[in-house]
Amino acid sequence: MNLLVTGGAGFIGANFVRLLLARGRDRVVNLDALTYAGNLANLAGCEEDPAYRFVRGDIRDRDLVDRILAEEKIEAVVNFAAESHVDRSIDGPRAFLDTNIMGTQTLLDAARGAGVGRFLQVSTDEVYGSLGAEGLFRETDPLQPNSPYAASKAAADLVCRAYFHTYGYPVLITRCSNNYGPYQFPEKLIPLMIANALGDEPLPVYGDGLNVRDWLYVGDHCEAIDLVLREGRPGEVYNVGGNNEMENIAIVRLLLDILGKDESLISFVADRPGHDRRYAIDAARIKDELGWEPKHAFADGIRATVDWYLEHRDWWEQVRSGAYRDYYETMYGDKGRHGPA
Ligand code: NAD
Ligand code: TYD
Repeated sequence: MNLLVTGGAGFIGANFVRLLLARGRDRVVNLDALTYAGNLANLAGCEEDPAYRFVRGDIRDRDLVDRILAEEKIEAVVNFAAESHVDRSIDGPRAFLDTNIMGTQTLLDAARGAGVGRFLQVSTDEVYGSLGAEGLFRETDPLQPNSPYAASKAAADLVCRAYFHTYGYPVLITRCSNNYGPYQFPEKLIPLMIANALGDEPLPVYGDGLNVRDWLYVGDHCEAIDLVLREGRPGEVYNVGGNNEMENIAIVRLLLDILGKDESLISFVADRPGHDRRYAIDAARIKDELGWEPKHAFADGIRATVDWYLEHRDWWEQVRSGAYRDYYETMYGDKGRHGPA
């Protein structure tokens, strides 16, 4: 298939592009605006693959999207592009609504207009809100988003739903739990804690540290997306999760243990406003209908992830210092060699 992947320079998108190119079946066009979270170093080596093309641009740019869909004879769209960090959405919601809602709507309209045959929206379990001590999120649960990030993703899901019901446009939605693995921006819990621990800096745990997330290795999420894209039922939502609930404090202690660092680095800090207490996914539908199951046990995945951050210290040090952006401005900025003609 000729695929348009948006947000392919981010954490999950880059892992997805790599998965597709390694398989060698599809042509992949990656449209990414290279916001602070987009990093072409995540795709080092991909440029040499003739089945891959990178386009720097915004998913809200309708003319650009139209042009790519026509030029590349795109047959399916996978939309990863988003503002993705809850804390940033609390400080500045607007960019989240602009990209996550209007960006998705722009893509849907363009894809529908061009007759693109499949559209997969990469969503999140955060659209369901927060669980108490019991229960799991199911696809039929009401959407009760609590953060501006979650609200923007829930709104995008509803726009997708409307395009299916109103126009019969073949949209599929995946809602996944928290991911971890290589190339995750070090503002998210796991890479932030690894980087801070390695620098002997305090590890900021929000509130009492007892909030629960259901962690999934990024490669398992990418395989689920690939499967839903090819075999899922249009108009359907598929939850994706690792059946791996953990309290934040347990994750932090485990990382310190793996790294051989002292627990005195843990620093309990003020809680995140509106902090969701617990997420946990029922992934029975994708298992029963499509046969998907996670392949990576958490104990193995987390060790592999720590090893990756140890082996790629340059990558996250450049991200933390901002140096990665200077380089890409030189390459892709207005005066760079891949900038506007
Ligand atoms: P990320 O922040 O690492 O990457 C987002 C990418 O989108 C970046 O490369 C960025 O440059 C690009 N982007 C942002 N705005 C854009 C725009 N207007 N036009 C074009 N590109 C733009 O995010 P991630 O963690 O890889 O998440 C990817 C998707 O998966 C998001 O839609 C997110 O909601 C969803 N998701 C993430 C998780 C998780 O644990 N990280 C879990 C479930 C779902
Ligand atoms: P995060 O990685 O931001 O993902 P999300 O908010 O989308 O679940 O956070 C995961 C959990 O870790 C969440 O409960 C907030 C908590 N957390 C901290 O305790 N300290 C931190 O510095 C960060 C970034 C997150």
